[in-house]
Amino acid sequence: MNQEQTPLLQAVTDLIETDPAYFKVPGHRLDKGLCPRWTDRVGTGIFAYDVTETPLTDDLHSPEGAIREAQRLLSALYGADQSFFLVNGSTCGNEAMILSAAFEGGRIMIARNAHKSAMMGLILSGAEPVYVMPEVAADWAVQGAVTPEAVRKGFEEYPDCRALFLVSPSYYGICSDLEAIAEICHAHDALLLVDEAHGGHVYFHDGLPMGALEAGADVCVQSMHKVTGALTQSAVLHIRHHGVREAALNRIAQDLQLVQSTSPSYLLMISLDCARYELAANGRQMMEKALRLAEYARERIGRIAGFSCMEGDRTDRTRLVISARGIGLTGYALEEMLLERYAVHTELSDHENVLAIVTYANEIRDMDRLIGACADISEKCGGQQALRAAVERNRYPAFPQIPQQVMTPRKAYFSEMKTIRWQEAAGQIAGQMIAPYPPGIPVVCPGERISQEVWDYIERFRTDGRHIHGAGHDGSLDWVKVILADGV
Ligand SMILES: Cc1ncc(COP(=O)(O)O)c(C=O)c1O
Repeated sequence: MNQEQTPLLQAVTDLIETDPAYFKVPGHRLDKGLCPRWTDRVGTGIFAYDVTETPLTDDLHSPEGAIREAQRLLSALYGADQSFFLVNGSTCGNEAMILSAAFEGGRIMIARNAHKSAMMGLILSGAEPVYVMPEVAADWAVQGAVTPEAVRKGFEEYPDCRALFLVSPSYYGICSDLEAIAEICHAHDALLLVDEAHGGHVYFHDGLPMGALEAGADVCVQSMHKVTGALTQSAVLHIRHHGVREAALNRIAQDLQLVQSTSPSYLLMISLDCARYELAANGRQMMEKALRLAEYARERIGRIAGFSCMEGDRTDRTRLVISARGIGLTGYALEEMLLERYAVHTELSDHENVLAIVTYANEIRDMDRLIGACADISEKCGGQQALRAAVERNRYPAFPQIPQQVMTPRKAYFSEMKTIRWQEAAGQIAGQMIAPYPPGIPVVCPGERISQEVWDYIERFRTDGRHIHGAGHDGSLDWVKVILADGV
């Protein structure tokens, strides 16, 4: 296919050039009705592209024209059999994958480091999750790959699982051996569903890990907004058939309709069309640049006293996982300093590390700002033995073991609940998920008994004032919803 084309961009441009008298939604009339306080700052050009379904611009939910063409170009680029534009992020893609794969009465295997959107998919679908624990990269205290051995064991115990859902690359860029895992899944007539939210770019350079579709995944979703040039919320879902559970794959278009707006943003969809075009034209050079910038910083930060950068096989080397434990700083403290003193914005932090995402759109001066800030921090905070000892003493506990699942997330979600004090929550069945954010990985899911280990783990985040999804409206976790009728 001719990847030079941008069919959706062209269709909307053609519409604008007809100088239409416009009586459709959206009401701002192709740019004229927007708040001048905003348009005076940013201009109006782009807003003319904020249109809706017309015979020229096609319909995401039943594409026959420009959107269908744009999606076909996307499939061709990634080697998929079918691809879909998503306007509600990988969130809705994960929900649709799970909805299609297993529902009430069915089982699905899920990596325990799955993003909260997987849990939302389980609530929608009613499937029973069985969990597989990822390995922990011990020196960095981050969850990493799911091993083929763990997957094999999972199927031995639960041979009726309809699919395996896992995240690869993880937020920290750690990838699983998807080729081996795909083989195991397919041998059990189960689908491999990959949340590749952080991996839409890996297909374009040999120095990056293998993409999920190349490795044999049946379905994957990619947040194109995270690391390629699409706008926030723009994501895609790809299907590649391997003769496994075709009926489930054929449901996905329908399930996407449950979780996507009927007024999808053309700005988002055009950004996907254009991001695809750029990747097709320049993907290798773009990723070469990102890798070069990341290596430049990794090497220099690694030489700063008290700092280190994560290394490892099967990792996305455009992710910089930085630790300043050697000078007694937690990841949280380092992130705060970088932001407040140097206006260096990193993606997230945990107790040990800070994560910086490097893309082709960064410049050498961004890297120098990051390196310079780390060097300055090292100079100012170095040599403080007491701080170092305190960080070691106060390390966060390991991610807890999987608690007892008393009922499915869906059953729990729709059960009668009561709100109790967090202090009394240990031993109760959770009515809600609780997930430190980012990264948004639930520590406890609805329907699970809150073990003492889980309680202690979350309590540490609570007392340290960390941002938690599942906390009350005021951001505190003083109260929590639990299932009313325990003993079910
Ligand atoms: C692993 C993972 N999956 C899915 C998502 C959701 O992606 P989106 O923000 O595109 O909805 C995120 C968001 O950070 C994520 O980290």
